[in-house]
Amino acid sequence: MLSYQHSYHAGNFADVHKHLTLSLVLDSLNKKPKPWSYFETHAGTALYDLTAENATKTEEFKQGIALLQGLQLSSVFDSYLKVVQQLNTSTKPCDKYPGSPWFASQAARETDKISLMELHPGEYQQLKAVFHRNSAVAVHHRDGYEGVLSLLPPKPNRGLVLIDPSYEVKSEYLQVAKFIDKAYHRWSNGCFAIWYPLLKAGNHREMLRKIKLSGIRKVLQAEFYVKSAADERMYGSGMLLINPPWHLEQQLQQVSQSLYQHLADNSAAPPEIQWLVPE
Ligand SMILES: C[S@@+](CC[C@H](N)C(=O)[O-])C[C@H]1O[C@@H](n2cnc3c(N)ncnc32)[C@H](O)[C@@H]1O
Repeated sequence: MLSYQHSYHAGNFADVHKHLTLSLVLDSLNKKPKPWSYFETHAGTALYDLTAENATKTEEFKQGIALLQGLQLSSVFDSYLKVVQQLNTSTKPCDKYPGSPWFASQAARETDKISLMELHPGEYQQLKAVFHRNSAVAVHHRDGYEGVLSLLPPKPNRGLVLIDPSYEVKSEYLQVAKFIDKAYHRWSNGCFAIWYPLLKAGNHREMLRKIKLSGIRKVLQAEFYVKSAADERMYGSGMLLINPPWHLEQQLQQVSQSLYQHLADNSAAPPEIQWLVPE
């Protein structure tokens, strides 16, 4: 199903949570000079205009990135905020918002490689246009699960796969679990970051259960809530990280506490970060 367009949701609280986590993983990969490979199964368009019709219709960014503007935040936010700020001017601090491929491209050094999958024809054309001059970024008009699997194990052999579907159909949760099972067995030293929505229906639980039963170890689960779990709308954002970098758990504790303070309403539970499966 390809009716989803991320431009309606860019910069919302879930994007902030997901992209902060992504920035921290990329920072950690950059601590060593050895090159890395980065993959996305569901890339989107990489750049979003928050003044355009789709974003202003939902105004979701007003409950996300806009709430962080002008705050004094700890240094764990630095890399994330730097990428957002570089797209904007000081007079218009929140007109443009970067998608996950943009964060990866900004972190990449000359030897790092990026491969992006996007199936929607219109979104693919936009994504391709963003990176047409960047030879380190390969943009594929292809199903993300099948496309990324065909490229694993990669060279360079360290790096990250981001899995960020829209979960418009319930079967997508199980599709992610199946993908992880296959992808991990091809690249067991890779880091895998899976985003999932927290909705009242709780369909993410079956995906977590399958991944837990798969035998894969070292799986960190980070959930952040903005509303009560009884709310009819998306009440939180989840990230599952297989083989997360050292210190990510502590960094996510810090980040999530700040997000809870600035983005959540009074009915929201505090963030939860735990090992779904330890080492
Ligand atoms: C949630 S958005 C991605 C947002 C992006 N990762 C970010 O954080 O900026 C999901 C994207 O996946 C695309 N998509 C849907 N099904 C796909 C599939 N099977 N393979 C690749 N892309 C797909 C949609 O067109 C949409 O652009």
